[in-house]
Amino acid sequence: MIPWQLIDSAQAPGNGEELRLYRRGSEFSIRVAGCELMNSRVHGSEDALANLACARIADRPAASILIGGLGMGYTTAAALQRLGAAGRVTVAELLPAVVKWNRGPLAELAGHPLLDDRVTVLETDIARILRMEQQAYDAILLDVDNGPVGLTHRSNDWLYGQAGLEAAFAALRPAGVLAVWSASPDRAFTRRLGQTGFEVEELSVRARETGGGGRHTIWLARRPS
Ligand SMILES: C[S@@+](CC[C@H](N)C(=O)[O-])C[C@H]1O[C@@H](n2cnc3c(N)ncnc32)[C@H](O)[C@@H]1O
Repeated sequence: MIPWQLIDSAQAPGNGEELRLYRRGSEFSIRVAGCELMNSRVHGSEDALANLACARIADRPAASILIGGLGMGYTTAAALQRLGAAGRVTVAELLPAVVKWNRGPLAELAGHPLLDDRVTVLETDIARILRMEQQAYDAILLDVDNGPVGLTHRSNDWLYGQAGLEAAFAALRPAGVLAVWSASPDRAFTRRLGQTGFEVEELSVRARETGGGGRHTIWLARRPS
C-alpha cells in the first residue's frame, strides 16, 4: 500500500482549522481537523449537487451560478457541463491555497474547470457575497463543510442559521435554487429552510459516481417565483 504523503497545508482565517492536502499515487485527499473533507475517488454526490440544481434551472440559457467552495473542482466542472455557452459560474473559495492546488496538482482531476472562460474564481468567504447580493443568482451551490455546521471555519455556522439562509434567499432570483451538500440528514436544517420561505426537497444521493458507496444528503431549496 502506498503511504499518504502530505503535499501542502493552509490555515482557514480567524480561528479556522488547517486544511491539509495529501496524495497517495493518483489519489488525493483534503482533510480538516482529522476528518476527510474530500477524496478524489469519491465525488458522485458533489457532481449531483450541480446536476440536480442545474436541472431545476435548465430553462434559463444565461444562468448565473454561485458555488462555494472549490474543493477539488468537481461541483464546478459538473455545473459547467450542464450550463450553456451563455451561463456563468462564480466560485467563492475561502483559501487561496485551494485555488492554487486546483491550478496545480488537482487541476486534472475534474478536467481543468478553472480554465473555462465562463468561470470566475473569487478568493473570499461566500458569506461576504451572500451579504452583498440581491437577486443575482439562479442557483447557489453550497458545499463548504461536512454538513450544515461550521467545520472548516467556525463562522460558517452563520450560513446555515436564519440570517445566512435569508441572505441566500435574497441573493437568488425568483424561482432560483439553493442547493446544500451534507454527509448526513439534519431535520432542524430542513425546518429552517422551510421557515425562511423556501420550498424544500431533501434528497438522498449515492456517494460514488458509479452509484455505490454511502449516502449523502442534498437539499434543494427553491425560492418561490
Ligand atoms: C468539501 S470542499 C468542496 C468540494 C467541492 N464540492 C468539490 O466538488 O470538490 C469544501 C471547500 O469549501 C471551502 N470553504 C470553506 N468555507 C468556505 C467559505 N466560507 N467560503 C468559501 N469557501 C469555503 C474549503 O476551503 C474547501 O475548499
